[in-house]
Amino acid sequence: MLALLWGAGSAAAPAEEAARARTNFIHHCTGCHLADGSGAPSKGIPSMRNTLSQFLKVTGGREFIVQVPGVMNSSLNDHDIAGLMNWLLPYVSPGVVPPDMPPYTTEEIARLRKSRPVDVFAKRLQLVAEMRKAGITIDAQSRD
Ligand code: HEC
Repeated sequence: MLALLWGAGSAAAPAEEAARARTNFIHHCTGCHLADGSGAPSKGIPSMRNTLSQFLKVTGGREFIVQVPGVMNSSLNDHDIAGLMNWLLPYVSPGVVPPDMPPYTTEEIARLRKSRPVDVFAKRLQLVAEMRKAGITIDAQSRD
């Protein structure tokens, strides 16, 4: 089994895996999220810049960010989703990924893709409230 790394995809060929993750992000995600992850908050597409990795710091956040519809319904396979997320988190929020947090594995993505929150917006608001309690500043998103 290939070990997955933050910022790349696999230990075998990190540069190639990072390039693959970036290409997948451009093809599958940037239509909505834009190339720099800034999204369109006024249209309900949250910015990921400096915030995405904050979700890793609260219970349920690691699961939530791969259970949003754009990830769940993507045609990418579980391995490519793991590689994409492991590249995306430090790319859009450099320095925020907790150093002791293990990257996503293919198996974890497969398991998480089998379930999703009933109400994505309610789940996000709950996580944002927990982040604020922990002193993390993050927008509640335009749909407050
Ligand atoms: C059709 C537009 C669209 C596409 C394509 C899309 N997303 Fe999203 N994404 C959204 C919207 C809208 C939200 C806000 C929650 C919701 O409605 O799902 C969101 C939320 C997210 C979030 C949660 C961010 C936060 O701060 O709550 C992540 C992470 C995410 N998307 C990742 C991705 C990835 C990775 C891809 C590509 C595999 C992707 N999305 C493709 C529209 C999209």
